[in-house]
Amino acid sequence: MKKVEIDSFWLPRAASTLASDIDFGWEAAKLTAYFFFAVVIGAMAVLMWKYRRRSDKDVTSQTDHNTLIEVVWTAIPLAIVVMLFFIGFQGFVKATVVPGDAYEIKATAQKWSWAFTYPNGVTVPGELRVPKDRPVKLLMSSRDVLHSLFIPEFRVKMDVLPGAYTQLWFEATEAGTTTLFCTEYCGTSHSDMLADVIVMEKSEFDAWLEEAAAESEGEPTAEAGEKLFTSLACNTCHSVAGARMIGPPLNGIYGRDVKLADGKTIKSDENYIRESILAPAAKVVEGYAPVMPPFQGMVNDRQLDALMAYMKTLE
Ligand code: CUA
Repeated sequence: MKKVEIDSFWLPRAASTLASDIDFGWEAAKLTAYFFFAVVIGAMAVLMWKYRRRSDKDVTSQTDHNTLIEVVWTAIPLAIVVMLFFIGFQGFVKATVVPGDAYEIKATAQKWSWAFTYPNGVTVPGELRVPKDRPVKLLMSSRDVLHSLFIPEFRVKMDVLPGAYTQLWFEATEAGTTTLFCTEYCGTSHSDMLADVIVMEKSEFDAWLEEAAAESEGEPTAEAGEKLFTSLACNTCHSVAGARMIGPPLNGIYGRDVKLADGKTIKSDENYIRESILAPAAKVVEGYAPVMPPFQGMVNDRQLDALMAYMKTLE
């Protein structure tokens, strides 16, 4: 099958090697539909006019069928759908079989954020960086409910399940940034469950990964904590400016008295904040539902320290 370069009105930019197969299947099905729409509606209009009732004496024709026409209008569409099947199947096989030399990145989904773990053990939430012109395999799992990972410009989409791995692969063809969506309804902030996908030249990617590894051993600063706060999507449920959202506002959290759902009041110190991040159901603030997902295993100690440093700066 010849690969055609298509820049479609209906589709996003094509930025992976899988896109040409998938877009070709889409274009073939679309053009077939346009063609038959014109033929069917056109024939209907012409025949309606040609055989319109001209007088009260006109009676309905008794012709009931024409075998030749019926065979033709069954065989031609059948041939077309069989062709569409093979076009689609070819793209499906290519999208499903992961190349053996693919670079493996682990993707973890949790209400309502994404985290990506690289082969050197570095975990980066909220942002997927990949090298250009190299097959990348995403090995995916969820820590809570069903999510689904969708990168429209790469034409890849796969469900992300709790208690099992799923996978997909792509090879990005253009450096630049695109967006990764969650495309399985997973609760309140489903539509905010996005991540940037940043495609980098191979040398830049290697340099970045090395830097990320060094940074993951550096000082846990409040700035690093603030970045994490956004990339872990904490900000979709917690205001830092006093607003009541799904969770309580976090400005002034360090050192204040917190009234809990069980009626007790405790002072918010490091251990309370730590516990509320790792196991939030342990001490729920009065007036709020226990809906926050646990971040145990999602953030490491250094990231916790950074978040803690950031919490202390919020007034
Ligand atoms: Cu996760 Cu929708």
